[in-house]
Amino acid sequence: MSQQFLPDNPLPQEAKVPEEIARFSPAVEAEIDGHLAKYPPERRRSAMLPLMFIVQRERGWLDKPGVAYIANRLGVRITDVWETATFYSMIYTKPAGKYHVQICKTLSCKIMGAGNITEHCAQRLGIKPGETSADGKFTLSEVECLGSCGTAPMLQVGFDFHENLTTEKVDEILDACARGDYKFAVKVR
Ligand code: FES
Repeated sequence: MSQQFLPDNPLPQEAKVPEEIARFSPAVEAEIDGHLAKYPPERRRSAMLPLMFIVQRERGWLDKPGVAYIANRLGVRITDVWETATFYSMIYTKPAGKYHVQICKTLSCKIMGAGNITEHCAQRLGIKPGETSADGKFTLSEVECLGSCGTAPMLQVGFDFHENLTTEKVDEILDACARGDYKFAVKVR
């Protein structure tokens, strides 16, 4: 098993020790303990994703202190955490807007007009994929298949799927977000 790299249990080789580690309330710590308790100590890293979702929920994104916290709790290297974090589009490795609009760009969606949907969103929001609006409200992303190919084209806001999209449907979604009355159907874990 990988070793922790933090000061009380450093790696044998030289490693950059983070200056700051995230701290959480007792309630959040208990939630995290609950996830860790599901696995034997040598398999703690299996709780990586649940911990990422909690850290992201609490801090808005997976910042360096949050990553250091996860590495410490799981007994893995910082790079182990980054490797996983950068694989998943639902894990934010930089600050994201309140409404993260992720448009599927894979084959079925592409054929069914995802390109137009992306262009429409970009025009409406005044940002390109990969950018966040100046007011911090919207982040726009193009992502790989989200598993809803039969109802293409589709996008995701937070964890909510919106399928069989038309530009009119997209306008309804973005208008609700802009007004602040978009209701997330799926709660952030
Ligand atoms: S191709 Fe878009 S959800 Fe699968």
